[in-house]
Amino acid sequence: MMLTDLTVRADTLVVTWTDGASTEYPTIWLRDNCPSGQHPQTHERILDLLTLDEAPVLTSARLDADTAKLTYADGHVSHMPVLLLNAHRPGQQEADPGALSPRLWRSNLGASGIPRHKAAQIAVDDNALNSWMHDTATLGLSIVEHLEDRVGAGVDLAERIGFLRQTNFGTTFEVINKPDPNNLAYTSVALPLHTDLPNQEVPPGYQFLHCLANEATGGGSIFADGFAMAEDLRSEDPDAFRLLSEVPIPFRFHDDEVDIQVHEPVITLDTAGEIIEIRYNAHLAGIFDMSPDIMPGYYRAYRAFMARTRDPKYRLTLKLKAGEMVVFENRRVLHGRDAFDPSTGYRHLHGCYVDRGEFFSRMRLLARRMDAADAA
Ligand code: OGA
Ligand code: ZN
Repeated sequence: MMLTDLTVRADTLVVTWTDGASTEYPTIWLRDNCPSGQHPQTHERILDLLTLDEAPVLTSARLDADTAKLTYADGHVSHMPVLLLNAHRPGQQEADPGALSPRLWRSNLGASGIPRHKAAQIAVDDNALNSWMHDTATLGLSIVEHLEDRVGAGVDLAERIGFLRQTNFGTTFEVINKPDPNNLAYTSVALPLHTDLPNQEVPPGYQFLHCLANEATGGGSIFADGFAMAEDLRSEDPDAFRLLSEVPIPFRFHDDEVDIQVHEPVITLDTAGEIIEIRYNAHLAGIFDMSPDIMPGYYRAYRAFMARTRDPKYRLTLKLKAGEMVVFENRRVLHGRDAFDPSTGYRHLHGCYVDRGEFFSRMRLLARRMDAADAA
């Protein structure tokens, strides 16, 4: 997009674009973002904002090839790239390939509606990696198939995205029936729908569970979209939704090595009221400590959410096969499993996590690479 006019006003520069739209840029913003205030190699800001006037005065502005040449009353001259002005119009967020809107689902998606991707392609092809990540980010759930039959095969694919999140259970974890378990996952009992590690200040983002063996009777997997359950609660039971998003509750995991606790709400909203996180884990919820005035009401709200986790309207069920890996947004999609009978066969999942920040960073880098390839 090109610009057709630059008009200097008190405290503001008005840019008119070829499509007739105009944008106002406060002069303090223009000075703050002058390219001369960036380190030339790192592109980090080195300008000290407090050395500027609160309202720098522009004396002239003219188009000079693909930059706007701005002259200030104190003699400073800026060459602002038109591309920068266009990409960062105040009041409009820059397009972000890492920010994908969630597509909510319920049980009518069907287990057959879970997007499936092939391990061998993800391993070598950036387009396949991007397409898998895109599905996983929007639905919060995907399955990778035909993984190699070795413990590190799932981790290798997760590391195509970014480095792994380390937790008190290690950088990777074995979900098997263990003697002396410190976690219900390491037994053969059923795990009702939950999110992992809501007791962490920042719970792990994307979870990868690579199935190496699932031969025992039972052991089926369950998934549900926590954002869909919470959105339905918002419209069907607004008081419950408000309590779950406003009242922090304790979450705690403790064993001989660690005692990790937080107080956080079950539903976290961003400043625009959009749901950005679900923390729900009946085993790790601590002892409620809100005021008795609101406690009965809170229990009612909590049970309303809990009842939705049991409602077939939201649940997808499937039994993972050896060579498949399920990938899900742990801060959105709840997961669980049926009990299994270890005397009937071996069950082994190998798990790891990659946090949201690394995931979205990889999506931006892939988009950058594809844009460069399209331009070439
Ligand atoms: C877990 C878990 C699911 C399974 O390890 O946190 O939920 O299918 N496991 O065993
Ligand atoms: Zn879990």
